[in-house]
Amino acid sequence: MPRPANSREALLQPRMREVIVEATSRCNLRCLYCAVSQPGYVGRDLEGDPQAILRGIVELGPREVQINGHGETTMLPGWVELARLLTESGVPVTLTSNLARPYESRELEALSRLMRLTVSCDSSDPALYARLRRGGRLEQLEANLDAIRNAARARGERGPRIAINCTFSHLVVAGLPELVRWAARKDLDAVALTNLVVYPGLPGKLVLRHPAQVDPLGTQRSVAEAQRIARELGLDFYTMGGLDEDLERAAAEVRAGRARLVDASQRELVPPSPKNARSAPSVEHANAAADAADEVSATAALAPSPDAGPASPSGSTEPLAPDAPAPSTPAHSVPAGMTRDCVDPWEYAFVHADGGVSLCCWAPAIGNLRDASLAELVRGAQARAMRVELLSGTLGPACGACPARGSVTPHELEQRVQKLLSRPRFLQAGLRRLRELAKRARRRLRRSFADR
Ligand SMILES: C[S@@+](CC[C@H](N)C(=O)[O-])C[C@H]1O[C@@H](n2cnc3c(N)ncnc32)[C@H](O)[C@@H]1O
Ligand code: SF4
Repeated sequence: MPRPANSREALLQPRMREVIVEATSRCNLRCLYCAVSQPGYVGRDLEGDPQAILRGIVELGPREVQINGHGETTMLPGWVELARLLTESGVPVTLTSNLARPYESRELEALSRLMRLTVSCDSSDPALYARLRRGGRLEQLEANLDAIRNAARARGERGPRIAINCTFSHLVVAGLPELVRWAARKDLDAVALTNLVVYPGLPGKLVLRHPAQVDPLGTQRSVAEAQRIARELGLDFYTMGGLDEDLERAAAEVRAGRARLVDASQRELVPPSPKNARSAPSVEHANAAADAADEVSATAALAPSPDAGPASPSGSTEPLAPDAPAPSTPAHSVPAGMTRDCVDPWEYAFVHADGGVSLCCWAPAIGNLRDASLAELVRGAQARAMRVELLSGTLGPACGACPARGSVTPHELEQRVQKLLSRPRFLQAGLRRLRELAKRARRRLRRSFADR
């Protein structure tokens, strides 16, 4: 006899919404803020037979599969075939990419058939873009965006929903409204701001700070202005990972006269000696030599290594490197009697390049595909223990230290879980499709008004 949806056991079952598979953790770029750029990082390609892994994912019936974690999937030979295998199995595929290199036409075709493409771009100023995304050129990114839309148009389609992911540091705050206008000119659909996880600065490169440390009130104004422009131009606009809360907390400190803000210049460089990297940086002119030192080839393939893994925040099971310090983003603490406002362990699975499987961006792996199938892992004892932790509010180290989610009462979380478990799958897919169609219609209307 089927168990009632709210029995304790039923509440611990997964309802996969999205599986993320890290096809490779290698990357062609060395973005200033990324864990990939930290000393000692070595990426690797997905362990095991990628086709068999993908078939295991399809069996779970997720609503979508994202084919990247850390690293750049489009530099993996065979990535087109992986995307095709999923699409032909009827699973919508999404990808986050730097789009930093020239693509062959079969790759553009594959990109144009994705359900959603998230493109990382922090600034529409070509010089700043190049300094942040070391090895990337805005001109190449723009050419790729046009080519993807053209590939879809050749089939009489518009192609994927394309969003910009802007990694939101103090260096890009002032240019945010212009970035939104640029996204509209490039026929994109959304702009999202990711909450910067600050890693130690790279000697000789620009200092990067969380905007809340520098000017929370000015940043809130810039975000509000960008939001207004996005609305006007018919683009969606998101802030992610607790960014709004971080800015509001810092803004409240400023209003109360308690804030200790950093007087940051946009041209500050991290001192050349790695030993001083964490002390107050000197202000120097960003000169041509520094620009030259930022150059990395966007097409260079980086040698994979069997014995090193990717870094958090993508949730690696292994340390970044023996001496690589942890990022300094603080956890949002959970008051007594509350729990994390998070249903990720019910809805998400991350397959890391080393075969490790975790259930959110921050927690360690619950097992490895070398030892069990994905279905066994997401239904297994470790996965259920994590869900019990959240439902009861007795948080372990990973959920206790999570910087990405706020708090909620255990009862409220249980209600959220019940709701997601009881929603019929076909209804979810139908509702999503309807919402997407309504958004597109609204966007077309707004753009036609804005053009008048
Ligand atoms: C790790 S990348 C992997 C995909 C691909 N290589 C790319 O750049 O689009 C995924 C996203 O994480 C963002 N990211 C990287 N480092 C970050 C950090 N320290 N804090 C917040 N977001 C970060 C990137 O800008 C990118 O949009
Ligand atoms: S392109 Fe993506 S994975 Fe590569 S260094 Fe930049 S943010 Fe990191």
